[in-house]
Amino acid sequence: MADNETIIWTGGTDGHLDLIDQTLLPNELSRIACRDIETVWEAIKMLRVRGAPAIGIAAAYGVTVGLQKSGDDDSEKFWQCFDKSADYLATSRPTAVNLFWALDRLRALAAELKSGSVAAARTALLEEAQKIHTEDRDMCHAIGKHGAALLSDGQGVLTHCNAGGLATAEYGTALSVFFTAQDQGKNLHVFVDETRPLLQGARLTAWELMQRKIKSTLICDSMAAQVMREGKVQAVVTGADRIAANGDSANKIGTYSVAVLAKAHGIPFYIAAPSSTFDLSIESGDEIPIELRNSEEITNGFGKQTAPTGVEVYNPAFDVTPAEYIEAIITERGVIKPVTKEHVMAMVGPSN
Ligand code: MRU
Repeated sequence: MADNETIIWTGGTDGHLDLIDQTLLPNELSRIACRDIETVWEAIKMLRVRGAPAIGIAAAYGVTVGLQKSGDDDSEKFWQCFDKSADYLATSRPTAVNLFWALDRLRALAAELKSGSVAAARTALLEEAQKIHTEDRDMCHAIGKHGAALLSDGQGVLTHCNAGGLATAEYGTALSVFFTAQDQGKNLHVFVDETRPLLQGARLTAWELMQRKIKSTLICDSMAAQVMREGKVQAVVTGADRIAANGDSANKIGTYSVAVLAKAHGIPFYIAAPSSTFDLSIESGDEIPIELRNSEEITNGFGKQTAPTGVEVYNPAFDVTPAEYIEAIITERGVIKPVTKEHVMAMVGPSN
């Protein structure tokens, strides 16, 4: 088993989901085996597996894990267990649409499978999860190719949170753009926002970039303006958790400030995301549900109390960058530019 694969399914329909526990990085690279659906749910909720595409893949496999509770003899009970498993996994995190996209894909398949045998359905549902996993890998590589064309040798770039191999099947979305540019012989210098409060930039992105020997510099989130003012950054690329029909994009808290700063300094701000991250059922970012997380993530991060006991805390995990701040959205199908509803629909709309 490859130690650095973010998500692995081991075995057949009676197998298990194996994940890198990302809460332990960068100090420890170790894996957790999810053999029941509660463990899958907890892994998503607690960010052991995180990043929009990775959450979707994990949830898709999680359905197969949930179905292991049900035997093959009673078809009605099996499909009740399917509905319960999908509904339960959908409660783990609210913002990344990839979670709901993956579960809806299984629900649509389930509707076709109900007339057949339970054993055949079990196999088909696992195969669909594996397909979601493989497709994500391909999408990431395609995003890298489209995005790398927007960058030039010698540029400084900035990213926020982690949209790398750890957040996807492999290679990432925003980081895929940097990895591909590097493979093409372009030397970049990546500025990595540490990404308060859970430090996905410091713990995960810096780790991934160092593993690939890409020149990188870690900064506190509050330093981005100064770094831009000093002329060190020529482009910003981040991932996304949900993109509305008009191009408004939700991503990790702090992304919106980076986009505003980029605009103020005349620096292009790009979103890199697969088509599975678009939610065309909503018109604008105002309709994107924003996850609110525990106050301890801010007051007691990583085991040390850093605020007075009892202080009031607000901890939204994501924010929405309005389309007007986004120079282009890089998808596996091509680059959406300018970012308008018309161009979003032309690239990822239902007729494509
Ligand atoms: O809370 P997280 O760590 O799951 O947030 C992840 C992000 O915001 C990523 O930038 C986003 O999911 C894109 S991952 C390719």
